[in-house]
Order: sequence, then structure tokens, then C-alpha cells
Amino acid sequence: MTDLWSERAQAYRESAIHSQGEDLDLLVELCEPGESVTALDVATGGGHVARRLREAGCTVFTVDPAPGMQPDVVARGEELPFADSSFDAVACRVAAHHFHDVLAAVKEMARVARGRVVICDNTFVSESSEEADRVRDPSHVRNYGAAEWQSFFELAGLEVADMRFMERPLEIELWLARAGCEGEDAQRVRELLGDRIVDGWMQLPTLVIKGRKKA
Ligand SMILES: C[S@@+](CC[C@H](N)C(=O)[O-])C[C@H]1O[C@@H](n2cnc3c(N)ncnc32)[C@H](O)[C@@H]1O
Repeated sequence: MTDLWSERAQAYRESAIHSQGEDLDLLVELCEPGESVTALDVATGGGHVARRLREAGCTVFTVDPAPGMQPDVVARGEELPFADSSFDAVACRVAAHHFHDVLAAVKEMARVARGRVVICDNTFVSESSEEADRVRDPSHVRNYGAAEWQSFFELAGLEVADMRFMERPLEIELWLARAGCEGEDAQRVRELLGDRIVDGWMQLPTLVIKGRKKA
């Protein structure tokens, strides 16, 4: 999986839906960035969260298991190689649906944060949409609903301070190409998504959730 992501690094650096968006703006705002703020970007991918947090004045470290993403530290979210309470803010955007143990990762993010944890991810729509995600990209594990996210935060010792929902427009053919999904597999994905696709686009329900460390 790691090599696969390294091969895709350039596509994720250039991807419009990753480099910008309402979800990115909100995630950065909820991190409460500033000159004295230290932040960790977990699953940094093309580095867009890190870039935006740096532009807002933060000192940022990046983590990703794929060396090709050129993170500061190569590591999985489930095993963060940092001491307890190392960062004011820990962020993770549109990546948790690839984690094999999402609860372990949220617990790790809570452990290394001394202030806030902000996570943004796609939310669950239906089993056929989950199947479409897996056919397109076998590294897809699962999208979760709002109640599941709330429970992950509570189990990790985080008090939910904010939770917002939005839809992100996704261009289907670019999305398939980014994961190298073509031919019969691509056709199967289009069939599984069915009438969610309108004029080559699909709306992705997305959640941004912020937690604070409990005292
Ligand atoms: C869609 S990209 C991330 C996008 C990026 N956060 C952004 O905002 O543009 C997903 C990333 O998750 C990483 N990843 C996959 N499994 C992971 C895990 N268990 N822990 C941390 N990162 C993981 C991949 O290497 C990849 O870089």
C-alpha cells in the first residue's frame, strides 16, 4: 500500500479537490493557527494541510507512511513516533478511511496533542458506495458516520467541540484516474455509484470534527 501511495504522490500534490476547498479552509480555522502554534499533519499526502497551516504562521511537522509523499516522518497514524502532548494542534484530512485501525489512530492523535485534534473525512453513504470506493482503490477501508466519529473521539478522551457537515464536488473521471482505475473496474465503479453521478460529478458528504483534550 505504501508504494502505491508513493507512486500517486504527484497526482495528489496537483489534485484540485485536495489542494483547496471549503473543508480545507474550515479544518485550518478549527486548528486555531498562529505564530506560536505547533501542529502535526497526519497522512499529509500532497502536503496541502501543512502548507496552509504554515501560511497561517504555525510550525508544522508532517507524517505519512508513504516515503514518496516526502513527510518529515514516515509513520502510520496508528503508531505516531512522538511524545505525549507534543503539538498544540493535530490535523488529519481525507485520509482516515484508509486507516486499518481508525480508533487506534484517533487515540494516537489525542495522545500527541496537548490542545486540539481536527479531522476531516468523507462520510458513509451506502454499502454500494463503499464497494465502489474499494473497487476504485483497494486501500480504501471504510467511511464512517457522524455517530461513529463522535464515539471514536470520546473513546480517545477527546471532548467534541465542533462538528460540521458539507458536500465536496468530485469530478468522477479525474478521481478514477488518480487511483489508476480504468476499463472494467472503472465501469463497475460508475455502476455502483449509479445516480449519485450527475453530469460526470458526484457530491461527497464530508465531516469536519474538532475535539479538545479532556482535563
Ligand atoms: C488522500 S491522501 C491524503 C490527503 C491529504 N491529507 C490532503 O489533505 O490533501 C491519503 C494519505 O493517507 C496515507 N495513509 C494511508 N494509510 C495510512 C495510515 N494508516 N496512517 C497514516 N496515513 C496513511 C497515504 O499514504 C496518503 O498519503
